[in-house]
Amino acid sequence: MDADRSARQDTGATEDPPHYYRVHVFCCVNERPADHPRGCCLAKDAQDLRDYMKARAKELKLRQVRINASGCLDRCELGPTMVIYPEGVWYAYRSRADVDEILKTHVVNGGRVERLMLQPSDKGAPAK
Ligand code: FES
Repeated sequence: MDADRSARQDTGATEDPPHYYRVHVFCCVNERPADHPRGCCLAKDAQDLRDYMKARAKELKLRQVRINASGCLDRCELGPTMVIYPEGVWYAYRSRADVDEILKTHVVNGGRVERLMLQPSDKGAPAK
């Protein structure tokens, strides 16, 4: 039994329910003033890329997949950023081709687009 599960049982919590979505994607579309030192994802086409990803997921008729816009994910310097759950895998992406590759490789086939993946040690806000 893992430590998290053991800790939950110690508090009387029941097991987590099944996931509502098979894949849940959060794409940062946060905007900051143009002179902000950390920049922002919106200034790097994040809204267009997120809208494209959502439209492509719909066109592909992906079931139990949700492509949400999110506020700041606190890795602004690396943006546009997205995080995909339940795995908690992060990507930095730049283009519609990147989005297509993430959809095909990660969302549809369960693989990873290693060239776009972010590691906890990548520069940006410190991992918590
Ligand atoms: S503005 Fe996108 S991660 Fe902060």
